[in-house]
Order: sequence, then structure tokens, then C-alpha cells
Amino acid sequence: MTTAEATMPNAPQIEGANFLNLLVVDDERAIRESCREVAQVLGFNTWAAESAEHAYRLLDAHSIDVVLLDLRLPGAGGVEALRHIKQNRPDAVVIVVTGYGTVESAVQAMKNGAYDYVTKPFTMEELKLLLDRVATHLKLKTENRMLREKIKSKQGFGSIVGRAPEMEKLYRIIAKAAYSTHPVLILGESGTGKEMVARAIHFSGPYHDKPFIPVDCGSLVPTLIESELFGYVKGAFTGAVQAKDGLLAIADGGTVFLDEVGELPVDLQAKLLRAIQEKEIRPVGSTKRVEINVRILAATNRDLEQAVAQGTFRRDLYFRLNVLSLRIPPLRERRQDIPLLAGHFLERLSRTSGQPRSLSDEALKVMLAYDWPGNVRELENCLERACAFTTGPIVHVTDLPTSIHSAPGSMPAGGDTSAKIVPMAELEKQAILTTIAQLNGDKLLAARLLGIGKTTLYRKLKEYASQE
Ligand SMILES: Nc1ncnc2c1ncn2[C@@H]1O[C@H](COP(=O)(O)OP(=O)(O)OP(=O)(O)O)[C@@H](O)[C@H]1O
Ligand SMILES: [Mg+2]
Repeated sequence: MTTAEATMPNAPQIEGANFLNLLVVDDERAIRESCREVAQVLGFNTWAAESAEHAYRLLDAHSIDVVLLDLRLPGAGGVEALRHIKQNRPDAVVIVVTGYGTVESAVQAMKNGAYDYVTKPFTMEELKLLLDRVATHLKLKTENRMLREKIKSKQGFGSIVGRAPEMEKLYRIIAKAAYSTHPVLILGESGTGKEMVARAIHFSGPYHDKPFIPVDCGSLVPTLIESELFGYVKGAFTGAVQAKDGLLAIADGGTVFLDEVGELPVDLQAKLLRAIQEKEIRPVGSTKRVEINVRILAATNRDLEQAVAQGTFRRDLYFRLNVLSLRIPPLRERRQDIPLLAGHFLERLSRTSGQPRSLSDEALKVMLAYDWPGNVRELENCLERACAFTTGPIVHVTDLPTSIHSAPGSMPAGGDTSAKIVPMAELEKQAILTTIAQLNGDKLLAARLLGIGKTTLYRKLKEYASQE
């Protein structure tokens, strides 16, 4: 037996393995440790269990892709464990480990759904080759899924634009997440496309014909989020003239997308945690529990780990939501996608307006140099605005908002510090009034292009009128 001896510090990582999760189930500690070591060096995230029961708990809490399962386990035993795993997680690849001379049990295991087997004693090189093959198999599987989705879906990740390596990696994780039922935590700055990714996960998965329900935890008042998510009975509070089902129940078999989950008040965090763990909810004012069958996706632009450290976000809920997590890189970290995204939005704008539009070289150069703090949403707004203000087919630098072409690094520095300083409120007033004038009085479009709500716009206009 050579399992414990080899460590492979210089073995190359398998490309794409670093989003794959592997679980070693073996009652021998030395084997668990050396297998984990090999898998980690190859780029897998790893977990280990010494019994079938422990393995079930880990399978429940993590999105495991590959299980290395010793067939001779104490307790429930490996054969029973294989049956359990294949029943509950049919997508997981199980490699069984058998003792020398018990090939029949390995063959039986393959008939029961195992992907392959190794016999003890095995060398680390053998294990490495096998895991290499599994990783390639899984990678192909997700890539096939991606291809299928790209072809068939308009709403899936076919509509996410971007070819930066970080985005390709993201597509693989989306393809994997789509076929899991675990919660996924989507992280990314504002405007990076978190909701778009959540939709892609839902609509490219097997339950795409079930509801996808977004809930904005940041903009609703806490009592409203509670009654929306959990529902209420008639008379639960003033105004509850009729019972209402909670969104967690309505989504039945589909997905609830908790946007800005970091804003959820602490008491609701506890209630949500219970709902996820127990798969049931209690509507406001009711004593009865309602069973739910829903997949939770959550997104935040806040640093949740920090919120956990500060005590404003529950650690247990954080772990529950974070079974799978993905981070969408900000646009400034994938500048090569700027021309693609600009082309995509211009094409769409050309189609809706019936007027072909393209960018001048100079405008593209300025856009490539800009940092885009509002990410893709800012880029989209910027082009919508530019197209609304230009009549010709070419969008020039001067059509772009001044914040973009006067940003440091975007244009040769003017260095004019003697310019008159204008208060923010005045700048805002000018922006609102000139935009409305340029759009021939279309206030709704003005609000959209300025990136503010229409109620805010009307309130401001009232203020300006009263100042005169
Ligand atoms: N990769 C992309 N390809 C095409 N469009 C994108 C992409 N990323 C974002 N968008 C567009 O940018 C806008 C913002 O996306 P989305 O609402 O998903 O971002 P978000 O991260 O949820 O933002 P916020 O934090 O502000 O809620 C949407 O109009 C979306 O269609
Ligand atoms: Mg959003």
C-alpha cells in the first residue's frame, strides 16, 4: 500500500477543477488524508468523512461532485451508501474503492451506478489519473450543457455577454449550479449582472418552467418582506382582509431570488434559516405550518463575511446560503469585454430604434480606459443616453456623459483647477432640466436615462417649481 507516501506538490492543476467538490469516505485516516492531498493538488475542493452517516451530512450541506467511497465501511456500509448517494444525488460521480481480490463487488457497484473503481492498494499516480479523467468528464458534461443552453435559450446564459476567462469560469459554475438544488450565493458589485446570473441558473436548470420570483430585500420594509415571503392569514394585521400565500410557497418547485440578502433584518434572518432547514414556513398570524419546496438563490453586493464578523448577519444563515457561491468580476477587471458589451447594447438599441449605431474609435478608447464603478448597468445606461442624444449613426466621445470622458486617465488631463465649483444640487438640477428639454419633455425616459426613479424626478421638479 503506497497511499500515504506520495505528495505531489508540483502536479499541475486540472483546468476547471477548482469549482469541483470531492468527498473522500473512508474509515482509515491515512487514506482519507492522502486522497484529499492528491485531489487538492489537482485543484478540487475536498471534504472527508469516516462513516456513511457523516458522508450524508456533508452531501446535504455541500454541493459534492465526486465521491471516493470505500466499499468496506463500518455502520451503514459502502454498498448501502452507494445506493443512498445515487438515489439522493444522482448527478454525483461515485468512485468505489475496494479491497484486493473483491473485484466482483466493484462490478456490482458499477451496475448500481458507480462511475469507476480502484482496488486497494493503489498508488497516488493511479488515483491522480483517475481523478484527471473524472474532472475532464465533468467538465465536458458542463460544457455540453452550456452549449445546449447557448443554443436553445434566449433567457439562459446565452444572453450573458462576456468572453473574459473569468466569465467562462462563471458559465461553468452556472451550468453546474443549474442542476443542483442547493442555495447559491451570488456576489458582485452593483450592476455586474447578479440578477441576470440568478435567472440563468434558474432558466437553464431542469425546473425552468416553474416560477422564478425575485424579492428585493433592500427596498421593502421589514414587515412587508416578512408578509411577502411567508404569507399571512386573514386578520393577521390591520389591512389583512384576506389571507395571502407567501412567495416561498407560491414558488412551488421553482426559485426565490433574494436580492440584496445582506439587508435582511436579523429576526427575519432567523425565520428564513428555519424555513430553509425545515422546508416549511409559518404565515404571519398563523399557528399552522406550510410545507415549501423551493430553491433559494441569494445575491449581495455587501461583504457578508464582514457582516457576520460584525454580528449583523447570522453565521448559520451565511453558511446555509453559501453552499455554492460565485463572484461576478467587476467590469474593470475584464476590460476585454467592454467592446463586446458595447456592441451588444448598440445592436439592441439599433434594433429598437430602427437606426443603426456604432461607436467611433475614440469613443471606444475612452470607454476602455474608464473604470465603470457602476459596471455593466452603467455602460448600458451610458449608451442608451448617448443614442438618445445623437442623431447620426456614429456615437462620438462628446456624446458620452462627461463623467466618462473627463475621468482621470480617460482623456489628456486639462488640469484646470480654477474652474468654477458648482454645488451638487445645482448640477443635479441642470442635468434633470436639460435632459427633459433634450427629450422633448419625456419625463419617464429622462428618469430612466438619468438612473433615478420617476417619483424622485417628479418630487425634484416640484421642488424646483417652488423655488421659482
Ligand atoms: N454580462 C452581461 N451581459 C449583458 N448584459 C448584462 C451583463 N451584465 C449585466 N447586464 C445588464 O446590466 C444590467 C444590470 O444587471 P443586473 O440587474 O443583473 O445587475 P445587478 O448586479 O443585479 O445590479 P444591482 O446590484 O444594481 O442590483 C441589466 O440591464 C443587465 O441586463
Ligand atoms: Mg440586482
